[in-house]
Amino acid sequence: MDLPSGKAVVAGVAGWPVGHSRSPRLHGHWLRRYGIDGLYAPFPVPPEAFATAVRGLAAAGLAGLNVTVPHKAAACALCDRLDGTAKRLGAANTLIFGPDGDIEGRNTDAYGFAEALEAGAPGAAGGGSAVVLGAGGAARAVVLALRTLGYGPVRIANRTAAHAEAAAAALGPGVETVPWRKRAAALAGAALLVNATSLGMAGQPALDLPLDDLPPEATVSDIVYAPLETPLLAAARRHGCRAVDGLGMLLHQGRPGFRAWFGVDPAVDDDLRRAVAGDLFAAE
Ligand code: ATR
Repeated sequence: MDLPSGKAVVAGVAGWPVGHSRSPRLHGHWLRRYGIDGLYAPFPVPPEAFATAVRGLAAAGLAGLNVTVPHKAAACALCDRLDGTAKRLGAANTLIFGPDGDIEGRNTDAYGFAEALEAGAPGAAGGGSAVVLGAGGAARAVVLALRTLGYGPVRIANRTAAHAEAAAAALGPGVETVPWRKRAAALAGAALLVNATSLGMAGQPALDLPLDDLPPEATVSDIVYAPLETPLLAAARRHGCRAVDGLGMLLHQGRPGFRAWFGVDPAVDDDLRRAVAGDLFAAE
């Protein structure tokens, strides 16, 4: 059968810009792998057109959308229904369109992080204290996932203290803040360290963080996935820690949307990692 047909189920990702998004590769791989008559397309939608575009795509019969930067908060605002995580984070990354054009919003970033952590470091999610660097949308999803997994206290260190305080206030109890300049000392006794800033990403400044105080039994996770092996993860391995790269979060956050739109719970495996980020493997 030639796919997609005229009856294809259609979904996509809305962002501005959207060209950098790896979601079309992710969902495209799954559609081919499962032989599904479906299509997943990138939609470059500027902020001022977002609500009109989403309602129009829902009215045109799309099954739904992923939503990426800078639209996650706006997506939350236009949904008819939200899941608990989207409500808590004030951000939706997965929209499911009903037959009458109604829009359900979910946030699967926290789920994606939790699944990736368990896959990358089985048994790591046993609790203990955690340090999270960053206080943006990604960091908030990570903190929520860690509280759900039983980590506590979760300590947020962020360059701008006010952002850390706001995140802790929104996500507490069990969430504290640590001054950015004391981030290295805060690693003493931690079971988990997560970098949820953009530091260490290709083209961004390096993350300056000596790991001397981090117990070697700790797990270190980086949400940066370009490069896959960030300097933080390399240092963590040298220190004896387990290291979990950022690609898993991207792959796992896509599963609930794919299941809702196309009716298959898709697998995350090495084939998928290479299909989505083969260029990053080659660069290593
Ligand atoms: P996202 O939604 O992907 O989390 P974001 O909201 O822009 O993106 O957050 C980026 C995070 O990286 C923030 O925690 C930011 O710190 P500030 O709150 O101080 O802006 C952090 N970050 C970015 N550049 C940084 C730098 N040069 N040094 C330290 N932290 C940085």
